[in-house]
Amino acid sequence: MKEVVDFHGSDIEKVAKYFNLKEEDIHNFSSNVNPLGLSTALEEKLKENIHLVTSYPDPDYTKLKENIASYTGTSSDYVLLGNGSTELIAHYIDYVNPKKALIVGPTYSEYEKKAKTLDCEVHYYPLCKDNDFILDISALIAECNEEIDLLVLCNPNNPTASLTSSNKLLPLLDHCKAHGIYLLIDETYMDFVDNQEIISALPLIKTYTNCIILRGFSKFFGAPGIRLGYGITSDMNCHRNLSMQRHHWSINSLAAFAGKELMNDRTFINLSKEFITKERLRILDELSNENDIKFYPNEANFFFVELLNKKHSSKELFITLIKDGLMIRDTATFPFLHGEYFRFCILSREENDMLIDGIRRYLNS
Ligand SMILES: Cc1ncc(COP(=O)(O)O)c(C=O)c1O
Repeated sequence: MKEVVDFHGSDIEKVAKYFNLKEEDIHNFSSNVNPLGLSTALEEKLKENIHLVTSYPDPDYTKLKENIASYTGTSSDYVLLGNGSTELIAHYIDYVNPKKALIVGPTYSEYEKKAKTLDCEVHYYPLCKDNDFILDISALIAECNEEIDLLVLCNPNNPTASLTSSNKLLPLLDHCKAHGIYLLIDETYMDFVDNQEIISALPLIKTYTNCIILRGFSKFFGAPGIRLGYGITSDMNCHRNLSMQRHHWSINSLAAFAGKELMNDRTFINLSKEFITKERLRILDELSNENDIKFYPNEANFFFVELLNKKHSSKELFITLIKDGLMIRDTATFPFLHGEYFRFCILSREENDMLIDGIRRYLNS
């Protein structure tokens, strides 16, 4: 087989060029973005409010912060804004300036990438396949010694989809607080989770000043192009430090407006949750007879799947599917994963059917 380079989840331009496809013909099961797209109500409101680009945004983003505080059940004093959560990952790690960081992985690559720019020693705490990639809190606590300055946990985790509820996180938060360890929890995919109010660590933020929770508008709210993310922390030193780093007006007027509107759009929120839950169950059911794959537990909008038969590989599956315009994520580039796992997100019902067929054909060829 011709050597194929590895692609990131959002590398649709590169993939299209490499496989000689038109971008618009690719179904991106790798993006993890809500398939309902932008809320129709917001689309209309954006058109009506396009004139906002003619004035500067409120540099304090007071209304946006109030809406985020109300959506997340926290105080607007705790809200930080960034150009996507990616920017806040970088700013928070700059703020902590760790000498030694521990990342629960395999996971999103930006944490390691950023930490390494600071000459930080980066270690991974490996999620264990034998435990379905579910985090063993006691074992993790045992690894968090005084030498660690920063612990990073993505929850639900990309790519393994594993989820840890806040009651399980409590002893970890206590341990980190007692040992001076900062904790970055990336909850980018938490909005997709049913009963997120009791699963998210948001209610704990007031008590644990050593912790930040990051979220954004890219995935659940289907708006990665507006580049809007937020962080919630009660660490006021962090607020002072990050507000010094952030440039005036760094969130543009349309993004600030969209963010505010999206969080109030209960129709879109409910429709999205209903659709994702229904499709998640349907896809699992459709592929339940395939013995050569294993689905790991998943409560978000994407699946993490293992190819059980040694004759299959994630790269080969990627190449087979992309020829039909179906782009999954080959996870072989993540730490600890070696070509036997892949990830795909839920798209429209018709697109999901195309992927189900494609996976079936590959497994049975
Ligand atoms: C876990 C995780 N965090 C953060 C991001 C980046 O999000 P944003 O678009 O808000 O920068 C991604 C994007 O794929 C992600 O998977």
